[in-house]
Amino acid sequence: MIKKEKKRPVHSEVTGFPVIDGELTIGGIKISQLAKKTAGNAFYAYDSALIKSRISDLRKYLPDEIKLHYALKANPMPDLISYVRHLVDGFDVASVGELKLAISCGQNPSEISFAGPGKSDNELRTSIESGAIINAESAGELERIIKISKKLSRKVKVAIRVNPDFELKSSGMKMGGGASPFGIDAEQVPEILSTLNETDLIFMGFHIFNGSQNLREEALIEAAEKTFDLAVKLAVFSEVPLRALNIGGGFGIPYFPGDKALNLKSLGEKLTPLVQGFKKKFPETDVVMEFGRYITAESGLYVCKVIDRKISRGQTYIVTNGGMHHHLAASGNFGQILKKNYPIVVGNKMSKKNLCSNNLENVNIVGCLCTPLDRLGEKVDLPYIEVGDYIIVFYSGAYGLSSSPHNFLNHPKIKEFLL
Ligand SMILES: Cc1ncc(COP(=O)(O)O)c(C=O)c1O
Repeated sequence: MIKKEKKRPVHSEVTGFPVIDGELTIGGIKISQLAKKTAGNAFYAYDSALIKSRISDLRKYLPDEIKLHYALKANPMPDLISYVRHLVDGFDVASVGELKLAISCGQNPSEISFAGPGKSDNELRTSIESGAIINAESAGELERIIKISKKLSRKVKVAIRVNPDFELKSSGMKMGGGASPFGIDAEQVPEILSTLNETDLIFMGFHIFNGSQNLREEALIEAAEKTFDLAVKLAVFSEVPLRALNIGGGFGIPYFPGDKALNLKSLGEKLTPLVQGFKKKFPETDVVMEFGRYITAESGLYVCKVIDRKISRGQTYIVTNGGMHHHLAASGNFGQILKKNYPIVVGNKMSKKNLCSNNLENVNIVGCLCTPLDRLGEKVDLPYIEVGDYIIVFYSGAYGLSSSPHNFLNHPKIKEFLL
């Protein structure tokens, strides 16, 4: 009897990276060719065409009135920032380092907004001098902005980051609702606005960011609805019209088995009446959405090489020259409660024969660090792996290198390619 082959998703097909001669490619280049440029060391590669197509999908399906911002924290690689700059309407930065990076990549400071708790006086000064918009996160921060702007005799554009009185349900990371270090509680905003009304600051509007990594359409729509309602209520307390309302983003990526990708078309259809309803009341107000991972995650591959394979008490360990110092998120140590595997393949063993279920073995993929936290994949079914093979982690275009402790143990610096 012929054994029926189990259907197994081929991630390269899911994520749009073609396979040539049984080897994964990115931007038309085989993984092994790129590895030659790094002398076999691990690397990240990002496909610019996938980033572009993601942004054009957002443009196509989200309401026309939405202005799109890119949140640099997801991937601050300078070439990528310079590339994305031409495709979006603005940037969101979370530090003066990111602000300077964005400006050095050619972004106009008036199209950058700076959010994040704990801005020092020096950072506020640099930011004020640059002309970027500052999203005030607390009453104390606002006081310091007022003081510094007076000293510098500069007119400063300020938005209020609001900690809403509701949450974005089912988010990978909640960042609003309840007590929070982020933003000013909605109920304190009227008083803050009365202070602001008496200053020379240029009040831009509200920034209401609720959460990140959300794959539930109903939750995203419900939060958007509540965000518009809250903005309308709070706007009454401003003496000047809102110039902008940033409603956040939070769109998630289906990293793990069982996750379902968001349906952008359907989301867009449901957001349209909400945006249009708001625009009817506030025709002069820009409605902004900001995305990090949704723009870059799927464009990126993390590639490392197999150094060793060993069996320990019945389990196979594939030891690579990569690990959590390059990719903390894939090791499960960046906000995951239980370790789940990112999609992983063996980049040079992508032929149908290699992927046939009869030829798969169950292995653990680990990095080269002396810590049990350094696991890229646990109990993954992969083709038989040999020393020298390439392990590829998908969805690595966001919260990869910049979110990882890459100085830990002083391994070689890793390269990134934008192709
Ligand atoms: C204020 C703010 N904006 C944007 C983002 C980007 O979120 P994501 O990459 O999930 O789109 C974050 C993430 O934490 C954030 O805190």
